[in-house]
Amino acid sequence: MDETLYDRVGGMPFFVTLVEHFYDGVETDEILRPMYPEDLEPGKVHLATFLAQYWGGPALYQEIRGHPRLRMRHAPYVITKRARDAWITHMKAAVGSMDMGDEDRADLVGYLDMAAHQLRNR
Ligand code: HEM
Repeated sequence: MDETLYDRVGGMPFFVTLVEHFYDGVETDEILRPMYPEDLEPGKVHLATFLAQYWGGPALYQEIRGHPRLRMRHAPYVITKRARDAWITHMKAAVGSMDMGDEDRADLVGYLDMAAHQLRNR
């Protein structure tokens, strides 16, 4: 039974690819790139495992990083409206590049948009 979005989209590879596409945007973004560390690889793993866990996958993020505490973890970064909108733009483009059902896509985009709005801190 494909009960969760994680199962329906094909599990972890979907989230790894989604995050790769998102980071393609981050790498060329003049607002976002300076906020991220030089080595982008650990952050990719954290984001992919977090999203996979959130959508019904194994609790790998929890194992690696513990409780998400996303607001606290983003506190070191100055997230203005512009930074938030840039993040959302790249994430929506990444989701748009993925093969998935319409309802799942709408749920995923809706969640990411909502979460990004909550993480603006300036
Ligand atoms: C609003 C715009 C956002 C900006 C500018 C932003 C920026 C960042 C930055 C700079 C990092 C550190 C990356 C690293 O250490 O390599 C990070 C980590 C992370 N972000 Fe965001 N982020 C945003 C929104 C979001 C949203 C909406 C989510 C979840 C839906 C999210 C989930 C995460 C996760 C899970 C991590 C890894 C945390 C950890 O270290 O365990 N972020 N973010």
